[in-house]
Amino acid sequence: MTPLLRQVLSQIDGPDPRVNELVSGLVKHLHAFVEEVRPTDEEWLAGIGFLIETGKMCTPDRNEFILLSDMLGLTSAVDEVNNEGPEGMTPSSVEGPFHSPAPEREPGAWISTGPERERGVATVVHGRVLDCDGTPLAGARVDVWQASDMGLYDTQDDAQDTGNLRGLFTTDAEGRYAFRTIRPSSYPVPTDGAGGRLLRAVGRHPMRPAHLHYRVTAGGHRPLTTHVFLAGDPYLESDAAYAVKQELVVEPRPRTDGWEMDGPYEEIEFDLRMVPLDWKDGR
Ligand code: BEZ
Ligand code: FE
Repeated sequence: MTPLLRQVLSQIDGPDPRVNELVSGLVKHLHAFVEEVRPTDEEWLAGIGFLIETGKMCTPDRNEFILLSDMLGLTSAVDEVNNEGPEGMTPSSVEGPFHSPAPEREPGAWISTGPERERGVATVVHGRVLDCDGTPLAGARVDVWQASDMGLYDTQDDAQDTGNLRGLFTTDAEGRYAFRTIRPSSYPVPTDGAGGRLLRAVGRHPMRPAHLHYRVTAGGHRPLTTHVFLAGDPYLESDAAYAVKQELVVEPRPRTDGWEMDGPYEEIEFDLRMVPLDWKDGR
């Protein structure tokens, strides 16, 4: 340890031990970064300028820092250390910056209410909310959101009504939920800010594989934020947000009957297995 780092660490002594631990850890790793990479004065100032640019992009509807955290795999790393659970649980995944309150909808309702419904591939999404031991969870709340076929969420797109491609559902006595929508497509994360500049600088593409977002709550269980991804998507291996987990990838099935639809459609079946609040490692 350098004398300078020792001096900085020795002065971290606030009233909250956890804050001291967090700040000390960050300082240690930042000093190690400087030792290893030896940034020039200009490079250090460029880094600070980049953080200022990131802050300036933030509004109540857009958080460029969250986007950066997602793009660097940091959100997924934090998710991983905080969401351990028993065998069979559905893994969590990043929330992303586009959650907003969804309209309450009846079981089986369409969440696509705009013109994209005519253009897209009709899709029925259904499954059950279960405890990890397979017990159905009735009355669970299933909040879903997805981008349009143009790759935009309603909050990014003046052409969509508020609440389009979003829905809040309640599971029935067997833990079932279902809704109708259009097949999600892959889309780029926003690239008009600091996050996009970073991606271009390091030669990365901005694409996310096709997905639907879920946020599920059920009494006595840990809330679950996750995604379902579509098998076969070309970006599954290189998601710009590093959010893909194998258990979350589902193969859409082509169907002609089974659900009342006006023509051929695809079916996505996805069960969500929730972790009890009292789960302890090794239980
Ligand atoms: C999203 O899927 O909504 C998303 C997640 C992380 C970064 C950008 C977008
Ligand atoms: Fe998304």
